[in-house]
Amino acid sequence: MGRERYTEFMTLPQELAGGLLFYGRGQCASCHSGPYFSDLEFHAIPFAQFGFGFNGFGIDYGRYNFTQAPEDRYAFRTPPLFNVTKTAPYSHSGVEPDLSGAIRAHVDPLARIDTSKLSPLDRAEFYQKIARWSREPSYAVELSEQEISYLVAFLSSLEFEPETAQ
Ligand code: HEC
Repeated sequence: MGRERYTEFMTLPQELAGGLLFYGRGQCASCHSGPYFSDLEFHAIPFAQFGFGFNGFGIDYGRYNFTQAPEDRYAFRTPPLFNVTKTAPYSHSGVEPDLSGAIRAHVDPLARIDTSKLSPLDRAEFYQKIARWSREPSYAVELSEQEISYLVAFLSSLEFEPETAQ
């Protein structure tokens, strides 16, 4: 049970390889499900925060601000993914300029963080965010750069033009 199972992907069109990951080991469809690629529920994904944040000093507690329920801290609604190539920058704060960064943020919260620059308060916040994320189904997912590029190819295939009246 290792990555070798997926070497057959090399022979597939990238969009298809990405689709298999999306609905399979990548676990994306456990939240980005249904006709809108969203369960319309709230989940915590450890995106870095850009800017001051709703709660200030680089913090945004997301859904918690409206429910005051501790389990809602850092949770945001799953965004739909149609035409997602055209809706950059990504996440609630727009911290990720491209799709590969947005996908990486789901599985590698340290990718964008220089831990040596974190204040004690930032560290405490970061640990709480990770603790909340650890209850999500995708917490244990690991993706290689190549797999992320397949997922980008799949997401790029979700573009569509609305039908115009003839
Ligand atoms: C546990 C639920 C969950 C899983 C699993 C999940 N996502 Fe997400 N995804 C979210 C939520 C929630 C956000 C928005 C988070 C935020 O703004 O802080 C998001 C944001 C995104 C975005 C940015 C969209 C935008 O408009 O900003 C992309 C792209 C994305 N997810 C793709 C994926 C892919 C690909 C996978 C599989 C590797 C995946 N997601 C797995 C819940 C999930």
